[in-house]
Amino acid sequence: MKARFLLRCSRPQSIFPLALLLMVILLVSCSPNANEPIISPQLGPILAAREAGQVVAALPTPTPVLLASLSEEEIYAGLPEDIVAALATADTARAEQVALAYGCVGCHSLDPNQMMSGPTWYHMGDTAAGRVPGESPAFYIHHSIVAPNDYLVPGYQGGIMPADFGQRMSTQELADIVAYLLEQRQ
Ligand code: HEC
Repeated sequence: MKARFLLRCSRPQSIFPLALLLMVILLVSCSPNANEPIISPQLGPILAAREAGQVVAALPTPTPVLLASLSEEEIYAGLPEDIVAALATADTARAEQVALAYGCVGCHSLDPNQMMSGPTWYHMGDTAAGRVPGESPAFYIHHSIVAPNDYLVPGYQGGIMPADFGQRMSTQELADIVAYLLEQRQ
């Protein structure tokens, strides 16, 4: 009897139900528990502070700023005088050549879905309007080109974007790029 059972089990087709049973057990043990809360890793520090008995204020959701809702003055506030003067003769078609010549396009793309080492230039004008409180969008764009490490875009590393464009680019080239990036808006 025992020998016959072993004989039956050693046949390949009788391994099938056993394998199926094993797979079901595996699947069941790996499936997520519906009662377990799904917690964002970003909540870590907040939960730790709450456990330590500290009062945790909700983080404000940043409101997107549209360039179209700003006045000319608000858009260009604080921009260096020489750049403002050069904006009068800024050429956005020339700016594309400048971005190519200085290798900006190796790290930045107008396509929001293209992963590159620098943030996308898609809607850069609107993004710039909401980046740093107190910095006008034109000022912010110029600032992030001449001193890229002063403000780091969340999720990106410092020290990657060359910090010497302010010395290498002419005032006109900088103005061309500022005008071009301000044009990338909704
Ligand atoms: C080697 C890669 C690299 C090159 C080349 C480069 N950048 Fe960047 N750039 C970055 C990275 C990384 C960041 C984000 C980190 C930071 O804020 O400094 C950034 C940030 C920026 C920002 C701010 C973007 C935002 O969403 O706030 C602007 C504007 C910008 N770069 C313009 C330029 C221009 C113009 C050039 C060419 C003259 C250039 N970059 C060349 C990597 C690069």
